[in-house]
Amino acid sequence: MTGTTLIDGIRLLYTGDPEREEIPDAALVIDNGLLAWAGPASRAPDADERVDAGGRAVIPGFVDSHAHLVFAGDRTAEFQARMSGEPYTGGGIRTTVAATRGAGDAELATRAFGLVNEMLAQGTTTVEIKSGYGLSVEDERRCLELATVLTDETTFLGAHVVPSGMDADAYVRLVAGEMLEACAPYAKWVDVFCERGAFDGDQTREILTAGVKAGLGARVHANQLTEGPGVRIACEIGAASADHCTHLTPADVDALASSGTVATLLPGAEFSTRSPYPDARRLLDAGATVALATDCNPGSSFTSSMAFCVALAVREMRMTPLEAIRAATYGGARALRRTDVGWLRPGARADIVILDAPSYVHLAYRPGVPLVHQVFHNGLLLEE
Ligand code: NIG
Ligand code: FE
Repeated sequence: MTGTTLIDGIRLLYTGDPEREEIPDAALVIDNGLLAWAGPASRAPDADERVDAGGRAVIPGFVDSHAHLVFAGDRTAEFQARMSGEPYTGGGIRTTVAATRGAGDAELATRAFGLVNEMLAQGTTTVEIKSGYGLSVEDERRCLELATVLTDETTFLGAHVVPSGMDADAYVRLVAGEMLEACAPYAKWVDVFCERGAFDGDQTREILTAGVKAGLGARVHANQLTEGPGVRIACEIGAASADHCTHLTPADVDALASSGTVATLLPGAEFSTRSPYPDARRLLDAGATVALATDCNPGSSFTSSMAFCVALAVREMRMTPLEAIRAATYGGARALRRTDVGWLRPGARADIVILDAPSYVHLAYRPGVPLVHQVFHNGLLLEE
């Protein structure tokens, strides 16, 4: 289909564009999958077709910059145990690794496709997908190959944990060598779980450096369960994002604020592990760029809902509704170093969400309520 589409009747447009974030009584024009125009409805140009938003609010599609969607099995029992007082240690990752290794490609692909569609229906039009539940050369490679069908934002996370029965140093050599070589053609990013019980600072540096040498961008699971070197290393090597950022020293906050590394907060993980939330206020006040993402995975955060994360960020992390919607759109795009998504400015991808609400504030004000009315992805209206 060619031709232009005008969306008018927008009570409040949140653009995600820092130069002009909110436009009341707005309209948008889509042309050939891209956003052609955004502004006050009174000045809207003519178009071939018209969609009436009916007085609803409009936002850019959410950018979920951190998700683990290629896996098999289920960790309900681990969740139940946690809700009875057990701590989260990350050790359950190996349970999912065993299930994933035992699953065929079709099963893994169907499951991941289902989660991506679940996300789309909730307004997420860009998602990053990590490997990390294979932990062998072939299982990591095939998980990433399956992910490339669903997104351009694929991340090699061979360094999730050391698989059972393997020596840690030997595994780091494998990840930074043969596994990276097999996975790099299917990955845009390299990631390491830098944490006590996973990978230490030296191991993290070695793997990220090898990944960058192979042409991948860096991102780090940093400071989730304890203070540690993850954030520092992410900032030093110019990683696009340090993710979790739950346990930060003042020096970590300064490093994030003065670097191009985005602090990606994943409040679904604190919710589902019953842990203290990261201090978003401290990061924002220091001047860091903050993103919100779901961390969708079967262990620590089995939610696909960015709206839920926005609500948690506002209620539990002292972010304002404006800061939270910004982090879930513009911030996610910064964390993926993308300028074509995360905002509605001319030339961007026409990824547009019409909310069944008069304002984006309702995402936090009405937690748990499905507020997505319609989603346009690449300018095309998704069928319900
Ligand atoms: O981001 N922290 C490490 N990785 C995931 C958890 C994975 C799991 O528990 O299966 C996370 O929380
Ligand atoms: Fe994660």
